[in-house]
Amino acid sequence: MEGHFLFLMFHLSLTLPIIVRAQNQSGFISIDCGLEDEPNYTDETTSIYYSSDVNFTNSGVSHSISSKYKASLDRQFWNVRSFPDGTRNCYTLVVPQVSSKKYLVRARFAYGNYDGKDSLPEFDIYLGDSWWGSVVFQDASSVVTKEIIYAASSNYAHVCLFNTAKGTPFISVLELRVLNSEAYLVNFVELLARFDVGLQDGEIIRYPDDVYDRIWTPYNSNEWTQIDNTLTIDHDATTSFDFLPLPPSIVMGTAAIPANVNDNIEFHFLPKNNASTCYVYMFFAELQKLQANQIREFNIFVNGDILNNAPINPIYLQNAYHLAIIENPLELWINKTSGSTLPPLLNAIEIYMTKNFSLSETYQTDVDGIINVKSIYGIKRNWQGDPCTPLAYLWDGLNCSYAESDSPRIIYLNLSFSGLIGNIAPGISNLQSIEYLDLSNNNLTGAVPEFLSQLRFLRVLNLEGNQLSGTIPMQLIVNSENGLLEFIFGGNPSLCSPGSSCNNKNGNKVVVPLVASLGGAFMILVITVISFCIYKRRQPVSHHLSKQNAYYKIREELESNKQEFTYAEVLSMTRNFERVVGKGGFATVYHGWIDDTEVAVKMLSPSAQGYLQFQAEAKLLAVVHHKFLTALIGYCDDGENMALIYEYMANGDLAKHLSDVLIICIKRLNSQ
Ligand SMILES: *[C@@H]1O[C@H](CO)[C@@H](O)[C@H](O)[C@H]1NC(C)=O
Ligand SMILES: *[C@@H]1O[C@H](CO)[C@@H](O)[C@H](O)[C@H]1NC(C)=O
Ligand SMILES: *[C@@H]1O[C@H](CO)[C@@H](O)[C@H](O)[C@H]1NC(C)=O
Ligand SMILES: *[C@@H]1O[C@H](CO)[C@@H](O)[C@H](O)[C@H]1NC(C)=O
Ligand SMILES: *[C@@H]1O[C@H](CO)[C@@H](O)[C@H](O)[C@H]1NC(C)=O
Ligand SMILES: *[C@@H]1O[C@H](CO)[C@@H](O)[C@H](O)[C@H]1NC(C)=O
Ligand SMILES: *[C@@H]1O[C@H](CO)[C@@H](O)[C@H](O)[C@H]1NC(C)=O
Ligand SMILES: *[C@@H]1O[C@H](CO)[C@@H](O)[C@H](O)[C@H]1NC(C)=O
Ligand SMILES: *[C@@H]1O[C@H](CO)[C@@H](O)[C@H](O)[C@H]1NC(C)=O
Repeated sequence: MEGHFLFLMFHLSLTLPIIVRAQNQSGFISIDCGLEDEPNYTDETTSIYYSSDVNFTNSGVSHSISSKYKASLDRQFWNVRSFPDGTRNCYTLVVPQVSSKKYLVRARFAYGNYDGKDSLPEFDIYLGDSWWGSVVFQDASSVVTKEIIYAASSNYAHVCLFNTAKGTPFISVLELRVLNSEAYLVNFVELLARFDVGLQDGEIIRYPDDVYDRIWTPYNSNEWTQIDNTLTIDHDATTSFDFLPLPPSIVMGTAAIPANVNDNIEFHFLPKNNASTCYVYMFFAELQKLQANQIREFNIFVNGDILNNAPINPIYLQNAYHLAIIENPLELWINKTSGSTLPPLLNAIEIYMTKNFSLSETYQTDVDGIINVKSIYGIKRNWQGDPCTPLAYLWDGLNCSYAESDSPRIIYLNLSFSGLIGNIAPGISNLQSIEYLDLSNNNLTGAVPEFLSQLRFLRVLNLEGNQLSGTIPMQLIVNSENGLLEFIFGGNPSLCSPGSSCNNKNGNKVVVPLVASLGGAFMILVITVISFCIYKRRQPVSHHLSKQNAYYKIREELESNKQEFTYAEVLSMTRNFERVVGKGGFATVYHGWIDDTEVAVKMLSPSAQGYLQFQAEAKLLAVVHHKFLTALIGYCDDGENMALIYEYMANGDLAKHLSDVLIICIKRLNSQ
């Protein structure tokens, strides 16, 4: 009797017609790589819905295999995508939001002389940053299948091909199936074999018979007899099989028994597998109605040790499994007991090998965010695979933090001069660890989104040189003025300061927020104006950049949106400063009118000798003065005098709100 070696590479010929039943493929991603003629199709034999790979990868070239190989290969293999450029090229599979993150990922390759070179390439395949294996072909028509089952940490699966200088990598088919989160009780295993023992050679079983679309291939020996039973094989309903997706009934319905009643079933592992740990799942169901005097009873031995506690008696049409976890697997025997009158049987067997993977994946929320950025702006660069891992293939313009125990996080994103068009991508709100964000010098339009101020760790935000419009969120200015954020936003001609009425062109309904007492608010205004004056006169060179922006904003505000009044007009409005309605340490407040609108005027005392001491408050400046600008309707910049004109708040206690609803006219400090 000969041993049965597990030659663990498949050569499938997918010719078995399978009865198509409509079934739900919601946990499936099925990609026909290189398919270009049409966006998708439903495979006639399996009813699996395949889509083109154009939306799953950035790169590569589509090819058709040589027609002489098409007859022996299923349609999914007729096209391939090859990757002549770059060392590493990736597919990103985005798994629909499902409760389980246990995935079966299967990559399949058939050369089919697609490049006309008749030269079999050899290359490596990676799952994310972890080496999965080498892809080596025996001939141009052989199908190489790599399959892995693993517990992912995210909804992404990145499958990457590496050029190892032995030919151009290519791929034919890529499939992902979501399994129950407990499935197989494993975290990382590679499939070595999945046999439907007793299945006719040349046939295969997969979806829709197997709802998980596992591919079951025949395993036979001329020393074995095939037996079968077309009745339904079920399992004991009292046993939970949550963790083990049982083979479908049709797989259990065939089995093999040794032809010689005294023989046993044996497997030997290839030496290359004996240094790993294997998970061997064996499935047994009696397919023959036994006579009263017949007994089928057996034991399983792995590397010489008995596996089962009690002898196994398969029950008629009922599925039972045995799992052997074997370190350094050498051999596996299924031996009948001395009391058994019948040889042992085996219906199905799956053999997995543990992978020493330390799959490191970027934090899912960050990936969601950056993928959104990538798709909104159509960024190509080297943005393939996982953004942060492996380090050698970190996405251009990104930097990540790599804490020992946590997933990598994106902390830096520089997309300046990248030709970005459109709004600021909402995905940026996902980058909750980001510290540095540079979107400068693009053609970004639309508003500065509020979420930018919610990024807790953001230290630098550069939006300079875009076409952004609308109002800057107040909190960004606050953070900037508190020194938490370096915020650069100049060169966006339509961008408004917070609180300004530039979005309300009619400007009549704007209510001035009450900010501070007369003195405090006034001092701040004074500083604002002084700063403005200084800015106008001498370009500030040593200012903190964000402050410079604030001044820039004030000037922009004044020059673009507000009505300019002459000093004479201000005199007229206030009837030569007729009625004093308030007095602060450094200013006097006057009542006035513009047409029928009541206003008030704050005049900076010309001898504002104390102005330097206001600089202590300067860091609050941008925050508060922008609030004042809410009501700004005009200004006076006439000779030695300058005025900021704010709208009147109609239904308020005038005395209380005086400080906020004023026309201020200030004698220039630095008048020339
Ligand atoms: C597919 O099955 C999943 C659960 O198995 C279910 O949530 C989903 O609604 C189904 N979809 C369709 C179209 O039947
Ligand atoms: C790729 O994505 C685009 C945009 O979502 C879509 O219009 C197109 O149909 C997709 N192509 C395929 C082949 O799925
Ligand atoms: C499949 O392709 C057809 C065109 O051949 C298209 O109308 C349909 O929207 C596609 N389905 C999906 C889900 O992309
Ligand atoms: C299983 O049976 C074979 C003979 O078929 C025998 O060589 C082997 O020792 C048996 N294994 C055990 C553990 O009894
Ligand atoms: C693997 O098998 C080879 C050959 O059978 C043997 O020399 C080696 O000791 C085995 N290794 C382990 C770890 O069992
Ligand atoms: C797994 O791989 C890591 C590095 O990738 C290595 O340090 C470790 O020894 C490996 N473990 C085993 C059991 O091979
Ligand atoms: C990315 O981070 C590393 C380590 O913190 C640092 O050395 C490198 O300069 C950073 N790159 C950029 C572009 O900031
Ligand atoms: C951001 O990218 C631009 C363009 O690639 C580059 O000029 C600039 O130096 C980068 N900024 C930093 C801080 O690396
Ligand atoms: C913005 O778009 C215009 C044309 O629409 C182009 O000329 C200009 O170079 C673009 N600016 C940037 C920074 O990409």
